[in-house]
This record gives sequence, C-alpha cells and structure tokens, in this order.
Amino acid sequence: MIEAKDIKVKIGKAAILHGINFAAEPGKVTAIVGPNGSGKTTLLRAITDEIPWTGTITVNGKQIRDYKSWELAAVRGVLPQAATLAFPFTVIEVVRMGLTSGVHGNKDALASQALARVGLSGYEDRFFQELSGGEQQRAHLARVLCQVWEPVVDGQPRWLLLDEPVASLDIGHQLLIMRCLQDYAKRGGGVIAVMHDLNLTAMVADAVTIVARGKAIAQGPVHEVLNDQALSDAYDCKLKTNTPPMRGMRYILPQAAEALHA
Ligand SMILES: Nc1ncnc2c1ncn2[C@@H]1O[C@H](COP(=O)(O)OP(=O)(O)O)[C@@H](O)[C@H]1O
Ligand SMILES: [Mg+2]
Repeated sequence: MIEAKDIKVKIGKAAILHGINFAAEPGKVTAIVGPNGSGKTTLLRAITDEIPWTGTITVNGKQIRDYKSWELAAVRGVLPQAATLAFPFTVIEVVRMGLTSGVHGNKDALASQALARVGLSGYEDRFFQELSGGEQQRAHLARVLCQVWEPVVDGQPRWLLLDEPVASLDIGHQLLIMRCLQDYAKRGGGVIAVMHDLNLTAMVADAVTIVARGKAIAQGPVHEVLNDQALSDAYDCKLKTNTPPMRGMRYILPQAAEALHA
C-alpha cells in the first residue's frame, strides 16, 4: 500500500497542494486525473519524495523518510512527465540505467525483454535522441520496468509511479502499455499513473483520484468517481458520462460537453 495523508506542497510562497489524502493498493491500477495545472505532477513528485512536502507518506507500511535512497529505488520505479537526456546514449544503454544492483541473472536479456514489452524489439542499438517522442517515452518506460521487473519481492509489492505514461502514444501503443501496467498489477505489483485520457482511464483503471485546484475532490472505484458532477466540477465544463449495457464500462461523451464559460 502507498498512503499519503494531508500532503501540502508550497513552491516559493504559493501553496500548490492543500492537504491531499491519497492511497493506492497493490494489485490495482490507480489513476490520478484532473485538469492542467491542478497538481497531479506535484502530488506524484511528493509521493516519490522528489520535492519538499509536509504530511505523512508510507510505502508498504513504512514511513518514506525511513527508507534509504537505494531501498526506495529497489521498491519503486518512477517515470517523470518529461525526461530528456543530454548525451548520445543508445536505447539499450538507457534501458540498462534502470537495472539496479538487486537484479540477478542476464541483465542484457532483461533489458531486451523490457524493450519487447513496450513494443521496441530491435531498437537496442538505435540512438535514443533519434527516436520519435512516443518511442522515447516507451524506452524510458522500459527503463523503469527493468528497475522493478518482478512485481513482488520477498512478499512485498513493488511500485510503478508514472506521470502520463501514454500521453504521446498512438492508440495501439496506448493499449499495449496500459495492458502491460494491468498485467503488472495482476501479478501483485502496484501501479499509480497520472492519466490525461478519461476514457482510457475508465477502461483500464481500477481506482481513480480526481485532483482539482490542489485538492483531491473525489477518489474510489472508477464507476463511482467518474460521474457527471465530479468531472464537470473538476474540468470546469459540462461533461456527460454514460455506461453502455454490454460492457458496463463508463465513458465520457466529448460530443455532449459544453464549455461553462464561453
Ligand atoms: N517549479 C514550479 N514553480 C512554480 N510553480 C510551479 C512549479 N511546478 C508547478 N508549479 C505550479 O503548480 C501547479 C500544479 O502544477 P502540476 O502539478 O505540474 O500540474 P499538473 O501536473 O496537474 O498539470 C501549476 O499551477 C503550476 O504552475
Ligand atoms: Mg503534470
């Protein structure tokens, strides 16, 4: 379990997060959604202890402040929203950066396996900087997957914390990656992903937290949280959701949306 209580973040004098409670369980894909600038990335960066925060954060029952940095690296992999590289690395070199000392066996085989998982087989010796934006994003994801390859180690779940992992991917690769995250959760790991696409979220997430104006305004199972009122309030436009009888899966109708402030 990852639990964050009363998380407040200030940047300079500006309060960005105003006391957020957030929880994610292993075995589930937990999505964080909300409008631009609402605090999703800031929340993720607090949970990964990359920026100063106040409150309480526990990872698998232990205070995050009690972890040594190498212990934390062994228990969770983090994909930032934008990751650039200043040097001309090949793809396999980038993926190998995710291999921590805790990984046993053939490391190159693992890096190539991770590339296959994200649909980049055969890209090993290409230069990272020569890949498209979506390919670079998937190479970074392969790096993070390598870091926490086994979803459960010594009975403890490991975690993927991902900031918009499919934001620049086409629909086929979005599905490939989301299925890969679902599989990680199914095998006992935990997945927390900031998501931009509400319909994709409704399709693959188990739980969702809506962040708006630096607060968590709703959280729980997808079919409860993704409702007309919560979404319209969060995104400041009139949104209509629906549930087709066959699949029972919630979806949002962009055609029925209306801007509140023309
Ligand atoms: N380094 C920073 N300095 C000043 N303001 C920041 C900084 N990082 C984020 N913010 C502000 O905090 C708010 C939340 O940002 P962010 O968490 O990145 O939003 P989201 O990921 O939901 O789009 C925004 O208003 C943003 O401008
Ligand atoms: Mg963001």
